[in-house]
Amino acid sequence: MAATHDLKEPTTLGAVDTTVYTYVASVQELEKDGQLTRWVNDHDILLYIWNDEIKAISNICRHFGGPVGYRKHKDGKFTCLWHNWQFSCDDGGCETNPGTPLRQYTDLKLQNGLIYINLLA
Ligand code: FES
Repeated sequence: MAATHDLKEPTTLGAVDTTVYTYVASVQELEKDGQLTRWVNDHDILLYIWNDEIKAISNICRHFGGPVGYRKHKDGKFTCLWHNWQFSCDDGGCETNPGTPLRQYTDLKLQNGLIYINLLA
């Protein structure tokens, strides 16, 4: 299960420790299309809003590395651009080839409208 943060009740437990968390994007940027991809310290991150929560998974397909978040998710699934493998918005699980889930980034923080990610979690 992907760890998430409710958009309406952000986590603001003191200052974000930038030795642990890295800035990814602002909520304003994310809310524009409901999803975005961004390279952060050599991680290709797919950040998206699903059921009013912010989630993050790898944007690199488990098949041959295609861009999972190139297209807008539909019916609760991302469809990889290259060969159409599908991944669940719930947890990055692969529906085309079960057992090959995308990496989930489970430790996110939201502070002052900015989203941070722990790349080691
Ligand atoms: S690289 Fe994603 S389906 Fe082939």
